[in-house]
Formats: sequence, structure tokens, C-alpha cells
Amino acid sequence: MTIDPAKSIPAFYAGQSVFVTGATGFLGKVFIEKILRSCPDVREIFLLMRSKKGLNVNERLQQMLNLPLYEKLREERPSNFEKLIPISGNVSEKGLGLSDADRQMLIERVTIIIHGAASVRFNDSLKYSIFVNTRATRDICILAQSMKNVKALVYVSTAFAHVDKQFIEEKAYPPIADWQKMIEIAESLDEHILNIFTAKCLDYFPNTYIFSKNLAESVIQEYSSSLPCAIVRPSVVMPTLEDPVPGWIDNVYGPIGLYVGGGKGVIRVACCNKHVTENSVPVDFVIKAIIAVSWKLGLTRFTESSTPFVLNCTTQKHMTHQNVIRTLFSVTHETPFEGIIWTPNTILTDNFILFYILTILWHILPAMLIDFVSKFFGRRPLLMRLMRNLYVANRAVSYFSFHEWKYSNTNMSPLMCSISPDDRDMFLMNYSDYDIRHYLKICNVGGKKFLRHEDMNRLDAAKAHRNRVYLFVTLVEIFISIGVLWILYNWMYSTNTV
Ligand SMILES: NC(=O)c1ccc[n+]([C@@H]2O[C@H](COP(=O)([O-])OP(=O)(O)OC[C@H]3O[C@@H](n4cnc5c(N)ncnc54)[C@H](OP(=O)(O)O)[C@@H]3O)[C@@H](O)[C@H]2O)c1
Repeated sequence: MTIDPAKSIPAFYAGQSVFVTGATGFLGKVFIEKILRSCPDVREIFLLMRSKKGLNVNERLQQMLNLPLYEKLREERPSNFEKLIPISGNVSEKGLGLSDADRQMLIERVTIIIHGAASVRFNDSLKYSIFVNTRATRDICILAQSMKNVKALVYVSTAFAHVDKQFIEEKAYPPIADWQKMIEIAESLDEHILNIFTAKCLDYFPNTYIFSKNLAESVIQEYSSSLPCAIVRPSVVMPTLEDPVPGWIDNVYGPIGLYVGGGKGVIRVACCNKHVTENSVPVDFVIKAIIAVSWKLGLTRFTESSTPFVLNCTTQKHMTHQNVIRTLFSVTHETPFEGIIWTPNTILTDNFILFYILTILWHILPAMLIDFVSKFFGRRPLLMRLMRNLYVANRAVSYFSFHEWKYSNTNMSPLMCSISPDDRDMFLMNYSDYDIRHYLKICNVGGKKFLRHEDMNRLDAAKAHRNRVYLFVTLVEIFISIGVLWILYNWMYSTNTV
């Protein structure tokens, strides 16, 4: 019996050839796992990859598939790994760096494109970010135009692509600049000259990443008259809630770095407006949304007057940064990181002067001291470098913690309602159902297991260490308080006797 693809996402994906860019990234890894497991009859998945750190694309793929993320898939559908076909490419190159043979194969076979490759660094040069984030999106569209059976092109944008608006609707917006001209400028101008013009080009945009992603949305908008396109805009993407395992994460960008660093007792201060609401979503929500969007797009009749389908993939659970941090640290108390160096407590401040003073007192001076002792014992000094990186990262992301945007989610509910009851377990995002404290607990354990590679069987030892650190910190605080009182007492006594 054949199942109607309109009623079943796996039936829609059966026999499809998917082309994924950014497959080796945080979202890409979760996407390919989910498709291979939940849409097992997919025909093949082409992965645009580049060689890195001395490994070619095949070696990188093999290394990636050993991640714990793929354990469930390995148990349930081990043969589906064979459907992954790595293709050498580089999205910073014009034409995506594809060989003629690979390009031809993609043109002949691909039916669904998920374009997620991006340089997500906020401090890339304007030239590089336009090449990777904007020009590559154009080149994906050009490639898609020559494909014979393309049903859906989903572009993974960001919920922060329109920071100039307070309320972000699920629609394509007029471009902030002419993307064609910007690509021409990036191609023709020398990097140094372009760096001088960067501030002028960005205008009120906070960094080259957001600027180039905004332009990329305009590219998609323009090509949507000849291609079935969609734009998915996730906010800050966090560890998995449940699928395929709770808490999976493999990068420390964004708030998760702050949580892990704070939980270890290393990050004591962060520049952030604690009253602003955090907007983050679990990565499995985002992946389900991408899959559902491509399904919807594939079923919709495409006409030349079509506009891109846009989905804001943002939170509907609202919590301020302060409350998130408080909850996390109470959760960290139950499942502490191994080898914490101080009691977890990060001061959030929006006062720059206080931030600099506390950074010197809490980050730089202790790091200098510990590095000095390390050097003395012939060990490699690491902390000052870490603190410098933390400082740069904190300054780069603080813009987003000082601003708050509101998002329309009008496309999300109809999309979720259109998922058939049989598919709901696999593809529905239960936005209203999940409990934030429970999720933060999952994030904490995920950070321990997948980022710090800690064994959960050693939890008792981690707790015993935490208790020793708490005792030590309490003693230090008592000594310091007594010392301060002693100094004050002596000072008052000496002024009275004079
Ligand atoms: N993570 C978030 O919080 C978040 C939030 C909103 C939107 N997004 C969007 O979601 C998408 C995926 O983000 P992510 O978090 O998965 O990022 P990520 O972990 O940094 O992954 C980026 C991916 O792009 C690939 N890539 C970068 N430069 C490339 C190049 N020159 N040639 C070929 N591939 C290249 C990377 O390949 P290598 O492994 O070879 O470097 C990697 O696969 C991006 O478009 C991002 O803008 C992410």
C-alpha cells in the first residue's frame, strides 16, 4: 500500500535525493541523523564538505559518524549510513568549489536542498562573510535552477537577520543593501580597503555575520520566483531536548559556553542585560521545523508569483537571562561539573565600567596568578589565553543580550497542525509542553557528557569535589571578611586615638 506523501513526511522523503550544505556543523549533524532515522526510505543524502585539519571529506565523515549522536541510528538503521555521499566543495569559492562531475551529478539527482553552511563568526572580514554567507547562497540558487527535479530549497537563516526591526514577521523583508552590488564590491575590492568601509556598510547592523545573512535572505527572495524556496530563522540554537538523545551539543558558541564556563566556576562576570528575555530553541526543534518546511514546500504547487515561505523558529518560553542563569546554577548544584575551580556564580551586569573592573578582579588577576604558578612548575600557562578569548566572545555576543525582539509565529501553528497524527511523535515540536527547568537540567547533563566528556558514573566524586570547593570558598570568604573588618577596626581605632 502506498502512503500519500501529503499525509506522511517519511512517505514524502521516500526516494528523494537531498543535498545538504553545512552537514558537518551543529545543525547539519542533527539534520542528517534525523532524516536517516525518521525518513528511512530517503534515496541518498549528498553532503557538501571540505577537507579540514589534514582529513579529506571521506575521513571527516567517518570521524563524524562515530559521535554518540549517531548511536541510536547505528542501532536502528545501520545500513542507512551508506546513503551519505560526501561531495568535495567549499562555499567560500565562486561556484561552491564543486568539480564538474559532482555538479552534474547533483543537477541530475537532487530534489531537496538544505542550505545551512555559513561562517557564524561575528568578526569575519566583510569580504569573507559575503563570500560564504551571501554569494554561496546565490550560487546554491543558480545550481538549483539547473536541477531537473528540485522540489524544495530551504535556507537556514537566523532570527537575528532583521535586527533593525522590533517585531519580526514571517515574511521576506526588503534588502538592507543591494546584494548583487555587495558581492561585486567584495569580489573587486582589496580586503584592506573593504575593512575600512565595513562600518559604513554595516550601518546599524552589529556584525558582518548578521549583515551577510540579511543579504542572503534577499538572494532567496529574488530567486523565489523561479524556485520553491523557504527561509527558516532559528534564534539561538541549544542542545537537543530529546531527539535522538537528550542534551546533545558539540559547540560552545553562545550561551552554552557561558553556562559551562560558569558551571565550572571559571566565568564570574558577563556583560549582559539580565532583564532581557533569552530567545533560544533546542536544536531538535529546529531540525524538525526544517524537515516539515521542506515537506510543505514540496507539496505546494509552485508558481512564478510564489514568495518564499518563512518560518521564525523562536522560543515561546520566555525567561530573562538572570532567571536562566539562576535556574542553571541551581541545576548545576545537583549535577556539578567535574573539577570545578570555584563556586558557580556569574554576575551579569549591563554596566560597562563594573564589567571591566570585575573582569580584571575576577578573571585577569586570578588567571595571571594561576598561569604564573603553572609556569613555575613547568606547566603550560593557559588561563590568560582562555580569559582573553572569553572576553572577546562575551563582547561579541553582548549586543544580543542587550536587545529584545518579538517574533510572529503565525506560520508555525498551521504547519504543526498539518502534520498527520501518525507523524506527530517524530516531527511535532511541542512548544507549549516542555518545562524550562527540566530542559536546563538536560542542557547541564548534555554539557557534562558531550562537551566535557565526563562520565556520569563519576557524579559522586564530582559532588564530593564540589563540597570541598564550597568549603574552601566559604573559608576564604570568612578570612577575607575578618581581614576587612580587622583593617576597618584598626583604621577607626587609630583615627579615634589621634
Ligand atoms: N547555531 C546557532 O545558534 C544558529 C542560530 C541561528 C541560525 N543558525 C544558522 O544555522 C546554520 C548552521 O549553523 P551551525 O550552528 O550548524 O554552524 P556551525 O556548527 O558553525 O557549522 C557551519 C557549517 O558550515 C560549514 N562551512 C563553513 N564554511 C564553509 C566553507 N567555506 N565551505 C564549506 N562548508 C563550510 C561548516 O563546515 P566545516 O565543518 O568544514 O567548518 C559547517 O558544516 C547557519 O546557517 C547559521 O547561520 C545557527
